[in-house]
Amino acid sequence: MSTSGSTPLRPLAGRILSGIQPTGNLHLGNYLGAIRNWVALQKDFECLFCIVDLHAITVWQDPKDLIRNTREVAAGMIAAGVDPVANALFVQSHVPAHAQLAWVFNCVARLGWLNRMTQFKDKAGKNRENASVGLYVYPNLMAADILVYKATHVPVGEDQKQHLELARDIAQKFNIDFGKTVFPLPEPVIRGPGMRVMSLRDGLKKMSKSEESDYSRINMTDDRDAIALKFQKAKTDPLPLPTTPAEFEDRPEAANLINIYAALTDRALPEVLAEITGLQFSAFKTKLTETAVAVLGPINAEMKRLMNDPTEIDRVLARGAEKANAIANDVLKEVYEVVGFLPRH
Ligand code: TRP
Repeated sequence: MSTSGSTPLRPLAGRILSGIQPTGNLHLGNYLGAIRNWVALQKDFECLFCIVDLHAITVWQDPKDLIRNTREVAAGMIAAGVDPVANALFVQSHVPAHAQLAWVFNCVARLGWLNRMTQFKDKAGKNRENASVGLYVYPNLMAADILVYKATHVPVGEDQKQHLELARDIAQKFNIDFGKTVFPLPEPVIRGPGMRVMSLRDGLKKMSKSEESDYSRINMTDDRDAIALKFQKAKTDPLPLPTTPAEFEDRPEAANLINIYAALTDRALPEVLAEITGLQFSAFKTKLTETAVAVLGPINAEMKRLMNDPTEIDRVLARGAEKANAIANDVLKEVYEVVGFLPRH
């Protein structure tokens, strides 16, 4: 693969492609559930990390917010330890081959396949007639993101498993239709130490940037005071702290706070439970705050530094796009040939 002068990607256990949407505040759920996991995967895989702005506009985005959020996600990932020199960190719209391959996939995927996608049903809701066409074909674009690099592995959460299945179906149908194994079938990488972080107000709901109350989440840009206040106000219950995982039953808020503490300290649950046995909720929350501040503080500071230097972020993203384009253009060329498009001379 040619990378025109930039650091070449290393051949490792496989190639990972992952995508993150630039749609607002990064929070603790993004960090513990995804970004931290990506940082760990860099050791064993060649990684391509894509900020998916084309996906973002499947629902309305204010243009000014979109630009800002795109840089903010990039800053968050770099600050959290994604290595843009060894890997590629780039913006989806900077690599036209994603959209070009997505068109071909629009012609490979079947309506029936897309009609089964639960995320479309959830997001479109009752007002299906008014959803964008882009939202409907979103999974075809996601398949293109992955397959335009012939990625072998994709780290996915529960909510994206069905989309990855679809990407495999598209790869397989393409290979069969055209009688050539162009695409590998990408495998899911199940989250290792990552976790599902729940809302601080409702332990049954995922922590989310779209929940109205900011007290429901810890943002990666929150300072010490905000983190302390949010954990202090976090919902709990009148029982003492659980001492065994069995006592998590019907206590989603207590379970969530303890899971967060375990994830932040990178330890197994029994060890953490042994440590906090006998503490009052308030004392535990102080401990949790100190830990969160210790982990997020340096990331937060580096993010702020980068956000004050957008040209540096843009430079990193330009280098990433250069690497990504080099790979993607070769794969797209191969696809166009296989499909029978007249070569451009
Ligand atoms: N759909 C993913 C999400 O909402 C984001 C995404 C886009 C993605 N393209 C991808 C994830 C490719 C993994 C691989 O979280």
